[in-house]
Amino acid sequence: MTERYKLFDKKTQAFVYGYQVNAIQRMLDFDYICKRETPSIAAIINPGRAGIHKVFWGTEEILLPMYRTIPEAVAEHPHVEVMVNFASYRSTFETTMEALGQPGIKTVAVIAEGVPERKSKIMTATARNMGKTIIGPATVGGLVAGAFRIGNTAGTLENIVESKLYRPGCVGFVSKSGGMLNEAFNIVARHSSGTVEGVAIGGDRYPGSNLLDHIMRYEANPEIAMIACLGEVGGTDEYRIVEALEEGKITKPLVIWVTGTCSKVLPTSVQFGHAGARADSDQETADAKNQALRDAGAVVPVSFDDYGDKIGEVYERLKAEGRVKDVVEPEVPSIPMDYNKAVASGLVRKPTTLICTISDDRGEEVLYGGKPLSKVIDDEMGIGGVIGLLWFKKELPSWASEFIEMVLQIVADHGPAVSAAHNAIVASCAGKDLISSLACGLLTIGPRFGGAIDDAAREFKRARDSGLTPEQFVNEMKGKGINIPGIGHRIKNVKNPDKRVELLIGYAREHFETTDLLDYALQVEQITTAKKGNLILNVDGCIGILFLDLMNSCEVFTEEDVESVVELGYLNGLFALGRSIGLIGHILDQKRLQSRLYRHPQDDIAYMLPSRK
Ligand code: ACO
Ligand code: LMR
Repeated sequence: MTERYKLFDKKTQAFVYGYQVNAIQRMLDFDYICKRETPSIAAIINPGRAGIHKVFWGTEEILLPMYRTIPEAVAEHPHVEVMVNFASYRSTFETTMEALGQPGIKTVAVIAEGVPERKSKIMTATARNMGKTIIGPATVGGLVAGAFRIGNTAGTLENIVESKLYRPGCVGFVSKSGGMLNEAFNIVARHSSGTVEGVAIGGDRYPGSNLLDHIMRYEANPEIAMIACLGEVGGTDEYRIVEALEEGKITKPLVIWVTGTCSKVLPTSVQFGHAGARADSDQETADAKNQALRDAGAVVPVSFDDYGDKIGEVYERLKAEGRVKDVVEPEVPSIPMDYNKAVASGLVRKPTTLICTISDDRGEEVLYGGKPLSKVIDDEMGIGGVIGLLWFKKELPSWASEFIEMVLQIVADHGPAVSAAHNAIVASCAGKDLISSLACGLLTIGPRFGGAIDDAAREFKRARDSGLTPEQFVNEMKGKGINIPGIGHRIKNVKNPDKRVELLIGYAREHFETTDLLDYALQVEQITTAKKGNLILNVDGCIGILFLDLMNSCEVFTEEDVESVVELGYLNGLFALGRSIGLIGHILDQKRLQSRLYRHPQDDIAYMLPSRK
C-alpha cells in the first residue's frame, strides 16, 4: 500500500474508467520507459462492453480485462487504489462517488471539464471525510517520475524523455493548469535534477484537492527536496500556502509564481480560460498573491521568465549544502514508434498480405474497377455493368450487360423442388437464419445442378477448337463415360422445351455478332436428343456457351480473357448470384409462413430392409 504522502509508486495499479484507448496506451508506454514490472492499469471499466482490450506493452501486445461496473472491477482486482475517471461531466459525479465508496480506492483523478460546482463540492467533502484524494476535475492529472502516469499527463513520449520523467529527480511540483504542468516538467528538468511528482489540480473554482494539499504531501515526502508551484489569478488558494509558510509548516524551499499578472492592464476583471481564473477582488489578483507569498518567505520570481532560474538557484544551493545530488541517468528504453506513424513518416514499409485490383475504398468514394460509384449510378450501368467492372474489370457495351441481367433474371428461380431451393427451405424450416439457409441452398450448386456452366463452356470450346465434329465429341464423351456438361434435363425435353433457353438464344441471335459456339452446341443437341428426348441443351449449357460467344462478339475481350474465364471458372458465379434471388425469396416465404420442420415423413425415405438369416 502506498503511504498517503505518496499517491502513486512503481507498483500502483489503476482502473481507467472510460474506453480511452489513446490515454490507456500512453499510460502503458510511460510504464515501459520507466521499466515498470507490472502495467499501471489493472483493468478498464467500460459501461458499454465487458471483455478484453489489446494494448502494447513495450513491443509486445498484452490484454487488459474490461468490466462494465466499478464493483465488478474492484471484486476482481481488490489491490487497486486509484481510479482515473474519464467519465463525461454528465456522469463523472456518480462514478466518482461510487469509486470513493469502494474501500480500496484511495485516489480518484477526475478528468472531465464542466462538472457542476455543487457536485464538485460534494465529491471533495466526501473524499476529505474518508481521507481520500481527488485530483481534478478539469485536469490532465499528474505523474510520479519513473513510476506512474495519469492518462495523458506530460504529453508525448518525446516530451517525457526530454523532461527526464522516466526517473525521479528532487522537485515536487503542483499547478492548477495541466498545460502549465507539462511546461513545468520541462523547466524543472532544465534547472534541476528533475521532478519527483507533478500534479495539476484542475482549473475549476472548487477543485477536489488544492495546491496546499499537494504541497503538504511533498513536504512529508523524503524523496522531495524542494517544491515548485504555479498558482493562478483568481481564488484564494494561494493564501492557504501563505498561512502554512507563516506557521512554519512548509520547511522545504518553495519556488512559486502566480500567473495572470497581466490582468492588471485590463480595464475590467477577465476570466482566463479556467473557470476559477478570474479575480473578483484585489486580494485575488496575481500581484497580490505573489507579494503575500514573497512576504511569507517563498521564493517568488520577478516574472514567469525567471521562474526556471529561481528553481535552478534553489537547486544549486541545496546541492552545495549536500542535500541533493545530480542524478546518474539510467539507460532509457528506446520508444517503439507506432506503426501507423512510422508509415506516415516514410520510415518503414511492409509487404501487403492481400492484393485487390477490382475496387478501392481508400478515397472519399468507393471505386468499382477504377470508376467512382456515383458515376456508375449516373451512367446507369445496372447490375450487368457492375458485374462487368467487378468480375471482368471491363466496361461492357450495354447489349452485353443486358445479357448478363437477362441471365440473372432467368436463373433467379426454378421452383421449390430443385436442390438449392429444397435445401434452403429445409434449413429455414429447421429454424436457421436467412444467411445460413441461403448458404445451405447455394452449397448444392455443383456439376449436376446449376454448376455446369463453366464445365459446359470449357468442354464445348475444347471440342470445337480441337476440330471435333459434334458426333465425334458425343462419342468421345460417351467413351469416357462422362455426361456432357450442359446437356440433359430432368423435366425438360424436346417436347417440353425449356423456355429460358429459347429466350437466351433469341437475345443472342439478335445482339451478338457471332453465335458460333451456340451453333456447334445445337448440332451436338441434335445428336443427343436423337438418342433421348431429355438430352437437350440445358440452361446451364446455354449460358456457358453463349457467354463465350458474347466475349468473342465484344471487342473489349481478348482471346486471353476468354481463356482465363474458361480456365478460372467465372461463370457458375452467374447461377449462384441469380439463384440467390430466388433462394432468399423461398427462405422469406417459409419465415412468413412460420413453417417448422422437425422430421421428414418416413415415406419420403427408402430404408434398407433388415437382412434375414
Ligand atoms: N450427356 C450425355 N448423356 C447423358 C447426359 C449428358 N449430359 N445426361 C444424361 N445422359 C444419359 C445418361 O448416360 C443416361 O443414359 P442411359 O439411359 O443410356 O444409361 C440417360 O441419359 C439418363 O441419365 P440420368 O443420369 O438418369 O439423367 P437425368 O435425367 O437424371 O440427369 C442431368 C439430368 C443430371 C441434368 C444430367 O443430364 C446431367 O448430368 N447433365 C450434365 C450436367 C448438367 O448439365 N447439369 C445442369 C443441369 S441444368 C440446371 O441445373 C439448371
Ligand atoms: C433449375 O434451374 O434449377 C433447373 O433447371 C434444375 C431443374 O432440375 O429443373
